[in-house]
Amino acid sequence: MTGWTLGIETTAHTLSFGLVDADGKPYPAASDTLRPDEGGIHPREAADHHKDVAAELYAKVLEMHGINQNQLTGVAYSQGPGLGPCLRVGASIARGIATRLDVPLIGVNHCVAHIEIGRQQCGCRDPVLLYVSGGNTQVIARLNGRYRVLGETLDIGIGNMLDKFARLQGIPFPGGPKIEELASAYLERCPNPTMEGLELPYAVRGMDLAFSGLLTAAQRLVENGTELDAVCWSLQEHAFASCVEVAERAMAHTGKSELLLGGGVACNERMRTMSNMMANDREGTSHAPPKMYCIDNGTMIALLGFLELQNR
Ligand code: ATP
Ligand code: FE2
Repeated sequence: MTGWTLGIETTAHTLSFGLVDADGKPYPAASDTLRPDEGGIHPREAADHHKDVAAELYAKVLEMHGINQNQLTGVAYSQGPGLGPCLRVGASIARGIATRLDVPLIGVNHCVAHIEIGRQQCGCRDPVLLYVSGGNTQVIARLNGRYRVLGETLDIGIGNMLDKFARLQGIPFPGGPKIEELASAYLERCPNPTMEGLELPYAVRGMDLAFSGLLTAAQRLVENGTELDAVCWSLQEHAFASCVEVAERAMAHTGKSELLLGGGVACNERMRTMSNMMANDREGTSHAPPKMYCIDNGTMIALLGFLELQNR
């Protein structure tokens, strides 16, 4: 392939256009995220948002990297998993651009895109992926030539759980970063914390996870007068430890020694530290890509499209 590959991400509330060059080198994406004033994300409102800002963002990503759309030689888009109305918008924008430029169009798997950008950025070979985002919580590994989901949430994604807990305290979306700040503030205030009075249910269910009980119990602590920063600390400890435990089991079961983090919650420093501790204990390694490639981004879609088009 001689030119650039465009990637379009629209699985949920983020619309993002990203690029990789003819060698598969990634370039930062142009993104816009719908942030509802109240409540959660409404799929049709998110889809309308994506439609409204698409032309502007497409022009922006080309301008950011000084390229002309005639230099595009492939267009990739997130085919799923995601919200139907949002996915349809992404697919039709991608089809429109690819048809107009007469270049190949390719739909790719969003979760695999998180893995591939992480593998490329971190230089890991055959990792177990701990994919922790708003909508998804999955442990994925490649076995017998296919990516397999070895464990996943049975109810809500870990990020949605954090966002919802935050929303109940009046903290706007995205709540995860603010919970991280509050948890750090608690550690400064109370450097040797214990779980006394802060216990929460544990989210592990065999190889799967479930976060709604944790959310309810954390909210109950707040309602019973426990300080919010202490609850945030405990919530992070419980939620992250359970994800890391499932990832560790997956590493033990598959015999793999690399752990790769992906998804918006992988921006969290405590999540990164816990993953490192677990991997070090097993004499393995833990990796996380730059934060702009942890959150949903068009660049990872471009990269996976580039790889798939190359291997067609
Ligand atoms: P997906 O479609 O893959 O489910 P998503 O739409 O949820 O993704 P992402 O950008 O991958 O989007 O992740 C957003 C989530 O990441 C939000 O729930 C947000 O609160 C969480 N998040 C972002 N930064 C942090 C952080 N520092 N600590 C904890 N959570 C974070
Ligand atoms: Fe994602």
